Amino acid sequence: MAETVSTLTLAEMKSAGEKITMVTGYDYPSARLLDQSGIDTILVGDSVGVVVAGYKDTLPVTVDEMIYHGQAVVRGTERALVIIDMPFMSYQISIEDAKRQAGRIMKETGAGAVKLEGGIAMKKTIKALVEIGIPVCGHIGLTPQAVNQLGGFKIQREKERLLEDAQAVAAAGAFALVIECVPAEIAGEVTKTVAIPTIGIGAGNGCDGQVLVLHDMLALFDRFRPSFVKQYADLGAETKKALREYSREVKAGIFPGAEHSFK
Ligand code: KIV
Repeated sequence: MAETVSTLTLAEMKSAGEKITMVTGYDYPSARLLDQSGIDTILVGDSVGVVVAGYKDTLPVTVDEMIYHGQAVVRGTERALVIIDMPFMSYQISIEDAKRQAGRIMKETGAGAVKLEGGIAMKKTIKALVEIGIPVCGHIGLTPQAVNQLGGFKIQREKERLLEDAQAVAAAGAFALVIECVPAEIAGEVTKTVAIPTIGIGAGNGCDGQVLVLHDMLALFDRFRPSFVKQYADLGAETKKALREYSREVKAGIFPGAEHSFK
């Protein structure tokens, strides 16, 4: 079995100039597929609320839901680093609350780290979690939990603010930083100025790694597809084809045949 991926592995990869792969995963079978494909880190993103539960955004997702999905992903993973998103309002109220909720996530799932959204405003929270032994991945740029504050899912272009946010997250002790929906040039500059690995989504090729939402890249979610997503397979179409064929065979009395029946 290939060596397991830890937060230190990601730091080493940045130093060596080796790109980091991250993809979201929400259940046991997808975790096994991601792990067996050599993906370095599996993010149990709160995007589960949108692409699996069908909510309009990530705000309704609860800690219990993240723990349920996180447990399934950890059970299906042998090599990759599993990172679990802290959902909206599980870390914003107080540092004490953030410790309690992050502690639950780590203790009840066995994941390797948590991720939370925000830059300068989250500096003390990140530091407090890191100090008690909980590795934290930051997330700046378009932070979907703040969609109402940001006025929609928009590209974030405030360069100075992004540089300051990235520095704050790194100084607080985060081991990595997701940068979402930021012009490639700015994300590239952030990547050069922070010591921790940056993982981009809609942030160009200058980041230390890339993350995509599994259901977007495999076309398993059809409500919308952000322009930065590359579709690597059309499993939505393949699945519908298989289901239509099954339906046709059942209705025609073809399935189950003798080979799928007991004597
Ligand atoms: O929830 C999620 O899937 C994420 C990624 C988009 C980075 O935070």
